[in-house]
Amino acid sequence: MQTQKTFGFKWTQEYTFNSLANLKRMKAWLLERYGSPEKWLREISCPKPIILDAGCGAEMSGFEYWDSSCDQIQYVGVEISEAVMVAKKRFMAKGISDGIFIQDSIGDLPFIDPTFDIIFSEGVLHHTDSTKDTFIHLCNALK
Ligand SMILES: C[S@@+](CC[C@H](N)C(=O)[O-])C[C@H]1O[C@@H](n2cnc3c(N)ncnc32)[C@H](O)[C@@H]1O
Repeated sequence: MQTQKTFGFKWTQEYTFNSLANLKRMKAWLLERYGSPEKWLREISCPKPIILDAGCGAEMSGFEYWDSSCDQIQYVGVEISEAVMVAKKRFMAKGISDGIFIQDSIGDLPFIDPTFDIIFSEGVLHHTDSTKDTFIHLCNALK
């Protein structure tokens, strides 16, 4: 509840993260850490893979990382707080069509079968009740 409330507030303060300088720094850091998104897409090698951004917040990291590939993927953002509305707004502003945003807990995803080709989750698992349980739950949702 506290996490939901705190991040719901944090991510509606767009001026705190939405500057070009901050987003550029974030993108460089993500690329250094994970390599290029194209590399992952080549490995998956299926048309329009479904990507889950688990705990997407306002889509600060997710959009910076996947931006160059957004026309090649189907995007699902799940976020426990109201930040999901900010994510949705930012997504629509980019004019990308293949994406949905859901306000829910990633520890309680309503997907019975493995659904996602890639799961991206940046800075989230340690905020959940159990990092281990959430990790296992997400793994079960991975094809
Ligand atoms: C540090 S922020 C990172 C946000 C985003 N991944 C990014 O890097 O821009 C952590 C996010 O995880 C979300 N979160 C924490 N526990 C969650 C849960 N059980 N289900 C979904 N989202 C959760 C928080 O609300 C917060 O927006």
